[in-house]
Amino acid sequence: MHTRQHLNLNVRGLGLSATVASSERAEQLIREGRTVARLGLGQSPFPVPAPVVEELRANASRKAYLAVRGLEELREAVAEYHRRRNGLACRHDDVLVAPGSKELMFLLQVVYYGELVLPTPAWVSYAPQAQIVGRRVALVPCQPSNGWRLDPAQLEELCREDPGRPRILILNYPSNPTGGTYSSSELAALAEVMRRYGVVVLSDEIYGELHFRGEHESIARHYPEGTIVSSGLSKWCGAGGWRLGTFTFPASLRWLLEAMASVASETYTSTSAPIQYAAVRAFRGGMQVERYLWLARRILAALAEASRGELLAAGLDVLAPAGAFYLFPDFGGRRGELARRGVRTSDELAARLLDEAGVALLPGSAFGRAPDELTLRLALVDFDGAKAMAALEARPADAPVEREFLEHHCRPVLDALRRVRAWTAGGEAVVQPVRAPEPAREPVP
Ligand SMILES: Cc1ncc(COP(=O)(O)O)c(C=O)c1O
Repeated sequence: MHTRQHLNLNVRGLGLSATVASSERAEQLIREGRTVARLGLGQSPFPVPAPVVEELRANASRKAYLAVRGLEELREAVAEYHRRRNGLACRHDDVLVAPGSKELMFLLQVVYYGELVLPTPAWVSYAPQAQIVGRRVALVPCQPSNGWRLDPAQLEELCREDPGRPRILILNYPSNPTGGTYSSSELAALAEVMRRYGVVVLSDEIYGELHFRGEHESIARHYPEGTIVSSGLSKWCGAGGWRLGTFTFPASLRWLLEAMASVASETYTSTSAPIQYAAVRAFRGGMQVERYLWLARRILAALAEASRGELLAAGLDVLAPAGAFYLFPDFGGRRGELARRGVRTSDELAARLLDEAGVALLPGSAFGRAPDELTLRLALVDFDGAKAMAALEARPADAPVEREFLEHHCRPVLDALRRVRAWTAGGEAVVQPVRAPEPAREPVP
């Protein structure tokens, strides 16, 4: 078992978020006339589903501040969604709505006094948020041999050292950055340890609906009394910029919801009214939303498989993802050759791939991994999701998403993967970019 790390926390050491920093360098290269594939930012390539957009349009004139906990109709739609999808026995009183799940995570860290446990690789913002608030963080490194999943024995070992310590563990599945998830029995085994030590789990299920087979299962099924389920519109509804996230609490943690709501009332007051009305439509779901998800999942699954094929052909290790839109390859098998080319850390690897292959991506270090581990996160999102979806929609329902479809509709991603492969093989055979430079876009979190 690998050693855990405790972070020393100090806001003064904080820089720009890794995602934003990489995005700014990519923008600079684009301004210089280079073509850069944008595999750095984890933004959904798909549009917001049409009925949800219609609802936003219909509610554009709503201008009053809403309740700090969120619109009751929306909280009920979210509760009903979790009853339907996750078997939770919850009602609107258990739900808190905010401008993004990221904001809710921050509020949680402000009000909860315990240690934050992060299995790594972990999403880029969890640890910096704890750092801002001054919370103690325990990083628990997961292993590629275990599909980058947290092993219950690792959690047991951590808890046994100080069984009485209050803890919140953030479990994110399908995972950003690996795309991996947990089986039902694996969730049950983790739940058993959490229950024994009273660990609260923040289950970050923002990619739940993007499980490729639509088979996402929440750990709340196994540990309802200790699970806060996090969701939102950003990923499965393609609406990151709308800023809407939700937490659903068990009755035993109502005090946390109340404490977070009082901090919210002194900070952002309430979430955008028109967005909340539109979100009711998204959480209620229905045929059109299901159809949208079915198309998105099929495109993402096929693209992940084709992209992974390029990385495997380059001799890299990479998990077959179960959902979301990421790959997390490990270049460790080529450490010797890379060292001869002056690459010894994931930061150097990411910088060289950006400068020499024109591919913006993120180093494993941003996800809490050791600096000299040669891992990277690729977000397979640089394509026109609206066009790809419309093209798939126009085909017979049983038509497979084959290579030709991907070459036509997701070309920038596949070109980027080919450039990564060529660069890995020696650097000289870098494939010439085929696209004209795009105008710069604003960086997003
Ligand atoms: C794993 C994970 N959790 C949470 C978020 C935050 O999402 P939002 O604040 O848009 O709800 C993101 C966004 O990138 C994410 O990847």
